[in-house]
Amino acid sequence: MTLAFLTNLLHRLDPEQAHGVVLALLGLVGRFPAARGVLRRWLAPPTKPVALWGRTFRHPVGLAAGYDKDGVAWRGLAALGFAFVEVGTVTPRPQPGNPRPRIMRVPQAQALVNWMGFPSRGMDFVARQLQGPRPPDLVLGVNLGRNKDTPNERAAEDYVAVARTVAPLADYLVVNVSSPNTPELRALQRREYLVPLLQAVRKAVEETAPDRPPPVLVKVAPDLTWAELDQVLEAVEEAGVQGIIATNTTVSKSGLPPACQNLPGGVSGAPLRERSTQVVRYIHRHTGGRLPIIGVGGILSARDALEKAEAGARLVQVFTGWVYRGPALIREVVRAW
Ligand SMILES: Cc1cc2nc3c(=O)[nH]c(=O)nc-3n(C[C@H](O)[C@H](O)[C@H](O)COP(=O)(O)O)c2cc1C
Repeated sequence: MTLAFLTNLLHRLDPEQAHGVVLALLGLVGRFPAARGVLRRWLAPPTKPVALWGRTFRHPVGLAAGYDKDGVAWRGLAALGFAFVEVGTVTPRPQPGNPRPRIMRVPQAQALVNWMGFPSRGMDFVARQLQGPRPPDLVLGVNLGRNKDTPNERAAEDYVAVARTVAPLADYLVVNVSSPNTPELRALQRREYLVPLLQAVRKAVEETAPDRPPPVLVKVAPDLTWAELDQVLEAVEEAGVQGIIATNTTVSKSGLPPACQNLPGGVSGAPLRERSTQVVRYIHRHTGGRLPIIGVGGILSARDALEKAEAGARLVQVFTGWVYRGPALIREVVRAW
């Protein structure tokens, strides 16, 4: 049975059901080191090390946030070839997210539309999943969010609570202020919210994991104006944040067929590619190349990944490309890098 056949089979299911099947299988595989070893030998991309934040990434391709929200399958995902996996978004308290259906495939546009709204089993559950043995060369990130019913005025408390819980277990943390599906979350990208929020998270991380505090990154939206992005960059500088992930999904539906124009939520995949590359390039230029950037958005081929690298990304992540193309995409990108 080839991987292409398996992908075809999965794409006959509802997207969230298919996703559940993959997570369950990978969660199971992840429990058995021998099974992980077989997958790894079969699928392992070449090694092209990238050194960042005192960590070594065995190659530049990682899995973006939102795929393994609760940290149930990261060991299995590592065995499929990712150099790094970003678990989350994790909220402090468990919450169900929006009612289903809440993901749609748009294959003719090589896109997904989602309005998940941070379904999360909560930070204590996720922390339990992250304990225990680690594949030795996997870099593990955790993406932090706030609960839906926490107002922005108290958002910092949520991010700090999750940061404290997972900092000792993570290689890097991401402050996610850019998902379009939690009301008002993106307003946290404004300077007056962002500076104290980032300062509070950094302080929490340094207190909780003083020997090896994981670097703190911010994940930004592709829909900011350049002036708004400037505010984010000022906040990043002021709070001493160590990196940026660009970008999250876009609320723009241009590039989708007419039937999809009125869908709620965020668009990922091919229609996002160009804008997210522009954002990577802008950040790279405006920080003099000093701030490490993880480029994400619309990477469906090696060429798309190289475009992000040329714009200034040191690492890349995939989500939609992973859904459509599977492990072959990782190998293709790493070979071309
Ligand atoms: C179904 C789905 C769920 C997502 N959930 C999250 C999330 O919880 N947190 C987050 O920071 N980004 C989330 N994202 C955004 C991705 O991490 C990524 O930034 C975006 O999809 C662009 O990459 P892509 O074009 O390769 O998919 C999600 C994306 C999708 C499609």
